Amino acid sequence: MPTAVVNPATTTLENLMSMTLPEIDAALRQLRLLGVRATLETRVLEAQFSNLSVLETLSTLLQDELDLRQSRLLQRRFTLSGLDERATLADFDWGYNPEIPKRTCFELHALKFITEGDSALFCGPPGTGKSHIAKAIAYAAVRAGLRVHYAEADELLAQLQVVADSSLRRHRFLKPVLDADLLVLDDLFLHRNVMGQSADDLQMILHRRYKRRASVLITTNRVIDDWHMCLGDTALATAILDRLLHRSVLVKFQGRSYRLKEATARLVNVTSAE
Ligand SMILES: Nc1ncnc2c1ncn2[C@@H]1O[C@H](COP(=O)(O)OP(=O)(O)OP(=O)(O)O)[C@@H](O)[C@H]1O
Ligand SMILES: [Mg+2]
Repeated sequence: MPTAVVNPATTTLENLMSMTLPEIDAALRQLRLLGVRATLETRVLEAQFSNLSVLETLSTLLQDELDLRQSRLLQRRFTLSGLDERATLADFDWGYNPEIPKRTCFELHALKFITEGDSALFCGPPGTGKSHIAKAIAYAAVRAGLRVHYAEADELLAQLQVVADSSLRRHRFLKPVLDADLLVLDDLFLHRNVMGQSADDLQMILHRRYKRRASVLITTNRVIDDWHMCLGDTALATAILDRLLHRSVLVKFQGRSYRLKEATARLVNVTSAE
């Protein structure tokens, strides 16, 4: 009686070909091909109804996998950045305060300043869109694959006080702040002045980033001339501003508060509904 010759390659192929859909689903899960897994049934149906070739179907499935991985990566980067919203330049009403230097904002949004190690300082009255534009630039940087660390300045400095008594916790907290390709310190001096240890911390962060030519984007509604009061120390304010303004784009925001426009619109709606 002849002995059966087992060909491992054929056996594997046969096994594969005889897999049921739930078995394929389990294999895809095991292989972590979640993008293929999510669209497999649809793509198989599509292939049957549209007479697609094996290669066409395979490439669509691979594209589904790549798309899913890309969007999950973007989501992870967004979460790590600390941003609380996905602001864009497209949803900014440039006609509302036409004095805002639109061209400079778009230039910064193109992110060249980050690769060149420059910084930016947005100054101007409340509600004129400084934080909005800063977040839009930060989100563009996230989408471009850069490491972004966004924080409200007051909050970051307060958190630094909390970890002050443990050098390990302080080091861990500071690592993303110092290492990011772009650090955004939003609303500096908004709630309070930054005095004592916090002023020193701010100086240390800006100095270390300045030495590395790592970009910082600061927004504030306090004019530069007032910074020595906000920091309670003229020498420190000069040291900070000296480094900050050395390789920085200073963007002056002007005009009316958009918050007032929104509040007025709400008031009009309430009145007309009554
Ligand atoms: N020109 C604009 N078009 C659309 N939305 C705007 C515009 N300007 C401001 N906003 C919106 O108004 C709100 C306030 O703007 P934002 O927080 O950017 O102001 P700000 O200049 O940072 O103010 P503050 O100095 O008080 O921090 C936000 O919701 C922002 O999206
Ligand atoms: Mg702001």
